[in-house]
Amino acid sequence: MEKRTAAITGIGAYVPDYILTNDELSQMVDTSDEWIMTRIGIKERRILKGDGLGTSYMAERAVKSLLEKTNTSPDEVDMLICGTVTPDMQFPATANIVSDLCGIKNAFGYDLNAGCSSFLYAMISASKYIESGTHKKVVVVGADKMSSIIDYTDRSTCAIFGDGAGAVLLEPSTEGYGLIDSTMRVDGSGRKHLHQVAGGSCYPASHETVDKRQHFVYQEGQPVFKAAVTHMAEVSSEIMQRNQIAPEDLAWLVPHQANMRIIEATANRMNIGKEKVMINIQKYGNTTSATLPLCLWEWEQQLRRGDNIIFATFGAGFTWGAAYMKWAYNG
Ligand code: UT7
Repeated sequence: MEKRTAAITGIGAYVPDYILTNDELSQMVDTSDEWIMTRIGIKERRILKGDGLGTSYMAERAVKSLLEKTNTSPDEVDMLICGTVTPDMQFPATANIVSDLCGIKNAFGYDLNAGCSSFLYAMISASKYIESGTHKKVVVVGADKMSSIIDYTDRSTCAIFGDGAGAVLLEPSTEGYGLIDSTMRVDGSGRKHLHQVAGGSCYPASHETVDKRQHFVYQEGQPVFKAAVTHMAEVSSEIMQRNQIAPEDLAWLVPHQANMRIIEATANRMNIGKEKVMINIQKYGNTTSATLPLCLWEWEQQLRRGDNIIFATFGAGFTWGAAYMKWAYNG
């Protein structure tokens, strides 16, 4: 039997129009463009404005543009996974809402929450359905409205995050393109450094949780920073060695966009020159589940069939991982 792999055959994305600049943030909290650019490397981020608009609003637009670009009818999609930490509501899953909004009726799907690693976890999970032969057109969308859980009086977190969505179509390849190898990890002991206390079953919303500002992202930056650099470089190097990819054989590193210094340190440890690293953090900030597909979307025209690509991610959980993909088409 021919070996079947899961290849990306198209990319769609959506970012909101509103641009929150460092100068505007400097009027909200005690910070500066200089501090944010030096310590994080973000110039601006997009924010979804509008009453009642949630993550599904952006995911719908990303998925619709993906279906249009790839000439895919919603009826042909047989699975949709939505990676997100900011679902529209506790239930039903945002995947269900997005499927409905996009007219996807012959599919099943679910949400996957692995912090900032949600998209890569989702893409790897989806690839297993393709490899097994049970599913042929799978949409993976990473979308987050981080502005809905950010405390805009907390300078240590509010500069980092932005809103956005990106989606890919996965289809079977029998020519060796697509996801070749991956390593994903979780270490729940890291949860103390990065989490949202309230809104779940431990501390449902109450006046007290609102007063204590517990519905926002809580982050201890330094331990997260250290773990991100160590783990992303470790698993990425492991994947490269296992698949005998030397730095010169690599076309692109697609790293999670959390901090320019984390991206640079990861690439340095892997001996990858900056010219091979997809970086758009300066424009969008950390869009959590959307960072990787937003990079692919921006670089799509430069991608060539056969390019060796490494994805690397790290997020709340802690979760992290890397994947090796042989790109399937000329952008
Ligand atoms: O995607 C999920 C994973 N998340 C991450 O990967 C984030 C990882 N962590 C980081 O990127 C960095 O740790 C941060 C960007 C969050 C913080 O940068 P840092 O260089 O680690 O700063 P720090 O937390 O050690 O804070 C240094 C100083 C503190 O002041 P004092 O105590 O030395 O007086 C902070 O209060 O910088 C201060 N500070 C700020 N100053 C101006 C923190 N945030 C700001 C700010 N503007 N926005």
